[in-house]
Amino acid sequence: MNNITVPLIEKGGKAVLNKLCNLFGNKRKWYEDLCEYYGVTPRQAKELGPRSATRKPELPASSTANTVSGMTMAEIWESRPRNTAEEIYQWQKDLGSWSAFRQCYYHRSDRFDWVANTIPADGKYCEYACGSAPISNWIAENVKDRVIHFTTVDVDCEHRTFGEWRLRRRIERSGRPLTLQALIVRPDAPLPLKDQYDVISIIEALVLIHNPLEVVQHVTEHIRKGGKFWETYTVMDDPRTKNWISFRQAQEQRPAVFDYIRAKYKLLKGPDPDTPKDAGRRCWEKL
Ligand SMILES: C[S@@+](CC[C@H](N)C(=O)[O-])C[C@H]1O[C@@H](n2cnc3c(N)ncnc32)[C@H](O)[C@@H]1O
Repeated sequence: MNNITVPLIEKGGKAVLNKLCNLFGNKRKWYEDLCEYYGVTPRQAKELGPRSATRKPELPASSTANTVSGMTMAEIWESRPRNTAEEIYQWQKDLGSWSAFRQCYYHRSDRFDWVANTIPADGKYCEYACGSAPISNWIAENVKDRVIHFTTVDVDCEHRTFGEWRLRRRIERSGRPLTLQALIVRPDAPLPLKDQYDVISIIEALVLIHNPLEVVQHVTEHIRKGGKFWETYTVMDDPRTKNWISFRQAQEQRPAVFDYIRAKYKLLKGPDPDTPKDAGRRCWEKL
């Protein structure tokens, strides 16, 4: 090992090494799909990505979404009533391309081998609440030793549409027999899964889903015995979102969701969900 590599690793530098590989390798950059779909420059994609409570970004339109500008995320939430499932799902639509930029930026240095390594050859994987489908996209591009059958699920919104567009293209370009079923959650309709899965993930989403117990029960019915469930379910203490019905209900239902999960699964990896301020990532095995 040379003098540069050692201090990087000593600094817990896996993330640093990932960043350097992304920077100097010829891998696809995190903003390339955004630039193509929304006709923005890499610099604009970088400006539109970071999280901030006070930002009022000028979000570009696409063939599937209108421009959104001059409002904070909270103002968009407050621009209509948000009581019913339909009104809550409409928020994701009202955000236009916001979440596509935000989540691609947020995951810009992430690898998803932790999910990929739990999916068997010819296995079925479902990315629930997928948004721009960061995990499925990463797997379709990086996992070459297995054929995987993808299902993505989200409400009807631009984030989902962009995610499906890029995943279909990635699958097509892989030249391999990967498959995709893109499902949509509709208000006041039964939840959409039909098949049995080897692995389902719900990442960065339970915290804003208004009916998390129903969703977790639904995905559990669709994971085979011995299959894996990956989740994150952050404990939120943000005064801004305390009064937003979906965020509030997500926190109220959190203890019941984990009672249910503990009864149906064994925890394989990750922190105890009762850890104060939990923001961890867990893998559960279905009993
Ligand atoms: C913060 S994003 C996370 C997206 C993706 N999992 C990621 O890690 O980038 C939350 C996603 O949850 C989706 N979502 C919200 N309510 C949902 C519901 N009831 N069912 C399915 N997806 C939902 C949103 O549309 C959004 O795409």
